[in-house]
Amino acid sequence: MCSHCILERVAETESTNDDLMARWRAGELIDPIARLAQKQTAGKGRAGRAWLARPQDSLCFSLAYPFQRKPADLSGLSLLVGLAVISGISLALNHSKQELHQKGLRVKWPNDLLLNQGKLGGILIEGGQTKLGDPSWMIIGIGINLQNANAFDQALHHEQKVAALDQLLTTGEVLPDPDWIWLKIVEELEATLSNFDQTGFAQYQKLWMDWDAFQNTAVRITGAGQEVIEGVAKGVDTSGALLLASGEKMISIHAGDVSLRTSK
Ligand code: BTN
Repeated sequence: MCSHCILERVAETESTNDDLMARWRAGELIDPIARLAQKQTAGKGRAGRAWLARPQDSLCFSLAYPFQRKPADLSGLSLLVGLAVISGISLALNHSKQELHQKGLRVKWPNDLLLNQGKLGGILIEGGQTKLGDPSWMIIGIGINLQNANAFDQALHHEQKVAALDQLLTTGEVLPDPDWIWLKIVEELEATLSNFDQTGFAQYQKLWMDWDAFQNTAVRITGAGQEVIEGVAKGVDTSGALLLASGEKMISIHAGDVSLRTSK
């Protein structure tokens, strides 16, 4: 079970990330807290995008977690969160990780979950440290599509197709209660984040690469105001930076508001 974490569930809010960010700014956070909303009216995605969720078809929650590490030492956090979510999904669905891998579940650097190249979920991390010596409170927002991938596709009209968790089920299986899925993911997050706070990302590097959707794939990286970088994805280094083989050079790209796409 979630040992220290406060669990909160609300019917509706604008954004669970904004709610917990406001509490952090007001100095109101003491213990880790996970806040789930059945409906978000202003859900946020990365890079200022909106996050589309459908109340019956989505899981939307944020976890506020206090790290002893300074924000600068939290590199790789979003990658690690992706791995913890996979572990939580495995427990919630009672499918081994190997089975989930075989069915096409993957991570996409720096913070997406993919299922057979469709976007299954996204991670948005905000927060920081108010003053030296204080914990670094990170607000980890997670959105997962549970079912009805077609309805998301129709609403979004994106070139990136959408996937949903029910596509991992075998015939005759039904999706567990969303609260159960939430609890299992929070449990895994708590254990993984506590370990990461003590040891850092390096020990997860190899594991992350086992789930990497783009290993050895030609990709292009775009980011706000920066030039496009093209290369072949070669996994991540011990800090979680993406390694790109570009001509003779190996370039490392640190997560920021950048996005990764396959080269066409
Ligand atoms: C992305 O892929 O762009 C990240 C999406 C993150 C969405 C989640 S849903 C719960 C939390 N509250 C928000 O407003 N956003 C995050």
